[in-house]
Amino acid sequence: MLYLVTGGAGFIGSWICETLLAAGHFVRVIDDLSSGVADNLPSAVDLIEADLLDQGALERAMAGVDGVFHQAARPSVPRSVEDPRGSHRANATGTLEVLLAAREAGAKVVYAGSSSAYGDTQELPKHEDMGLAPQSPYAADKVAGELYARVCARVYGVRTVTLRYFNVFGPRQRADSPYSGVIAKFCMNALNGDLCTVHGDGEQSRDFTFVRDVAHGNLLAMEADCPPGAVINLAGGNRYSLLDMLDELERLVGHPIERSFTATRAGDVKHSQAAVEKAAELLGFRAQTSFADGLRETLDWYRNAAGNADETSVRSQA
Ligand code: UD1
Repeated sequence: MLYLVTGGAGFIGSWICETLLAAGHFVRVIDDLSSGVADNLPSAVDLIEADLLDQGALERAMAGVDGVFHQAARPSVPRSVEDPRGSHRANATGTLEVLLAAREAGAKVVYAGSSSAYGDTQELPKHEDMGLAPQSPYAADKVAGELYARVCARVYGVRTVTLRYFNVFGPRQRADSPYSGVIAKFCMNALNGDLCTVHGDGEQSRDFTFVRDVAHGNLLAMEADCPPGAVINLAGGNRYSLLDMLDELERLVGHPIERSFTATRAGDVKHSQAAVEKAAELLGFRAQTSFADGLRETLDWYRNAAGNADETSVRSQA
């Protein structure tokens, strides 16, 4: 099969590309390299460097593909609070364009949704039938994307599946931006002996999901015969607080990690944990990597990246 991965040079996208190639598929990527890195891509991948809103480039990227893994996004709650228009353009408008281009090409779309759609619910775990309660512009944009995916399935017959990701982490996640995911940041800080800044009391919890499992779940979703417009959580089904995560990191690095506590972040959710039954039922998906194993592999990756390059290039790569 020939698959298109939007945002394929990024963290999750590049893992999907690798998994597709290993399964014997052909892979094309469209990526503007705004946060993705061309070096993340195996040489067998055909890279089109362009913005998703460049319709001509998107049409070229879509030509002849069997399916699209739509990963291109601006994935940050705090960045969306600072720049809601930029978030909307990248996350909502970009998704609509991908869906419409896929309609023309007759391609199936597996869309990277987000657990942020649920907002700050009391009820845990969060299951797919619960109401939507986005708390940030990022969450609203990701919800808009999944609503467009459902509507395009219903109105235009586009085959779509939304996978709601829950705090994905692992090797190649960037650690060098103020908007980087918390595990990437804390791994780098722990290795460099830097302070880890915790927003709030550190008791907030997340269903941290290892990226290899997420890539595998994407392939299953592409291959599965799901109801049109299906929405499915993709996660391990557990939750760990930031303090749990810091304790585990301390064990792995073998020295205490200095922490400071600051105000809770605007738009933040307190607890997040996925119901995973629907993914098991519709996709046959079950996460294979324990949190401890995933964290160890991730930390090792940052450590090796630091060993293989000088400090400056590691910080810009990671
Ligand atoms: C949210 C979504 C997630 C999505 C991600 C994209 C939820 C529950 N999760 O992640 O599905 O993929 O957006 O960005 O909505 N923190 C610190 N110190 C730091 C950085 C973060 O304490 O230096 C805290 C945050 O305040 C938050 C937690 O760590 O409570 C996780 O933050 P982050 O990794 O940015 O992801 P979410 O915003 O939870």
